[in-house]
Amino acid sequence: MKFFLDTANLESIIKAQKTGLIDGITTNPTHLSKEKLDATSLVKKIAQQMYPHDVSVEVTEKTPEAIYNQALAIASLAPNIVVKVPCYTEYVSVIHSLVQEGIALNITLLFSAVQGLCMAKLDVKYISPFMGRLDDTDGDGVALVADLKKILDNYNSQTELLAASLRSIPHLHEVALIGADVATLPVKLFQTMLDHPLTDKGMRLFDEDWQSLGIKKFP
Ligand code: E4P
Repeated sequence: MKFFLDTANLESIIKAQKTGLIDGITTNPTHLSKEKLDATSLVKKIAQQMYPHDVSVEVTEKTPEAIYNQALAIASLAPNIVVKVPCYTEYVSVIHSLVQEGIALNITLLFSAVQGLCMAKLDVKYISPFMGRLDDTDGDGVALVADLKKILDNYNSQTELLAASLRSIPHLHEVALIGADVATLPVKLFQTMLDHPLTDKGMRLFDEDWQSLGIKKFP
C-alpha cells in the first residue's frame, strides 16, 4: 500500500520523507492556506522535493472553462503534479477533456460509489473517497472504500483507489484490509501510527532488567 502525506507543510514533508514510508503528497486549498506562502512556489518546491512521486494540487477556479485552463497550468508546474478536481456534475466534461489531454487527475470530494464508478470510467488516475467527512454525516467511509474497491476490480480499472480524509488508525487498518491502493495520511496520524503502549512498556521493562546487570559495555 502506498502512503501519501496530506499536507502542504514542507518541513513535515521533508521529515516524513526520511522515514522511507511516504510515496506522495496530497495538498488542498485548506493546506495551502495554512502555510501563508506563495502557493505557486510552494507547490513547485513540494513537487521538486518529492520527485518523481506524485503531488496532488487542487484547482481553485469555479467555471468549467477556467478549471480546464487552470488544470493545464497547474500540471505544467512539474512533471509529477497530479491535478485534483472535485467530483462535481458540471465538471465532468472538463475531467473527460483533461484525461484526453493526458493530464493525471485525482478526483476529490468523492462521496458515493456511483461517483467513483463514473470517474473510473473516465480513466482518471486516482479517485479520493473522503472517509472522515462521510462518517461525520452519519455515512460509512469504510463501506464506501470497500464498495469502490469491488467496483474497480469488477471492471479491471486502472484508476487507483486513494482513501482520503482518514481520521484514525482503525481507518488505516480497514482500508489496508480492503486493499485500497493509497491512503493519504494527516501529519498527526502519520507521526503517531506506530505508537503502541505495549511497545513503550516492553522497552521500559527490558531496560530495567538490562540496567540491573550493571554491564558497562555490550558487546
Ligand atoms: C485528500 O486529498 C484531502 O486533502 C484530505 O484527505 C481531506 O481530509 P480532511 O477531511 O481531514 O480535511
